[in-house]
Amino acid sequence: MHNDEKPLVIAIDGPAASGKSTLAERLARRLGFFYFDTGVMYRAATLAALEDLDGVEDEEAVTNLTEAIRIDVQPPSIEDGRIMDVLLNGEDVTWEIRTPRVDRNVSPVSAYQGVRRILTERQREIGLRGNMVMVGRDIGTVVFPDARYKIYLEASPEERARRRLKEFLCRGETRTFEDILQSILRRDGIDSNRKYAPLKPAPDAVIIDTEGKTIEEVLEETLSHIDPSLKNQG
Ligand code: CDP
Repeated sequence: MHNDEKPLVIAIDGPAASGKSTLAERLARRLGFFYFDTGVMYRAATLAALEDLDGVEDEEAVTNLTEAIRIDVQPPSIEDGRIMDVLLNGEDVTWEIRTPRVDRNVSPVSAYQGVRRILTERQREIGLRGNMVMVGRDIGTVVFPDARYKIYLEASPEERARRRLKEFLCRGETRTFEDILQSILRRDGIDSNRKYAPLKPAPDAVIIDTEGKTIEEVLEETLSHIDPSLKNQG
């Protein structure tokens, strides 16, 4: 396929807390593109299961619930550090989907084949609108294997845990470095080893090691791989 015929999606994948969302949001702003974080869908489905089913063990029940819920994202309505509002059946769950309880349960839910089928389909519908920076684990491999650009971010677990700790402290939440590190390692383990759409770089992804780099440096490195004329299309 000629490059121009590929969907105008920039796929940003990578492990937990590798800086995907921050990079993608900046990149989208720079290009005048939409920003879409697919992780919020898995997190919202997990929250729904924890609230309505009292747990995430029943795969069939979690899958049926995922089919039934409405997940919307919209521009931020409150200035409290959020990049966007996340709504679950119309209710603001922007911060509820970031609790340790959701962190603990989201990878098992994301490993369910039916859940992935439902959410992947919804993500494709949104992505096909074009001019989209999409963030996740499987955007370049499964959701949009024909994405025009694919970036895969990497950094050591310790660096990622330090960054996540800083985010929690900024929001006034107390968490320890060790707890965050363990949670990240556990999620990475499940996400990388699951049967369906495991976390891994697409063969044609540009791999960027973000260790010790500022967000500006990572942004510039990413932009160096992207056709400058795209800036006029957003
Ligand atoms: O922000 P962080 O990197 O910590 O996680 P996230 O992007 O919000 O994703 C939360 C979880 O959702 C991941 O650990 C994966 O289990 C799952 N996920 C996925 O399986 N596929 C995606 N495209 C996005 C997220």
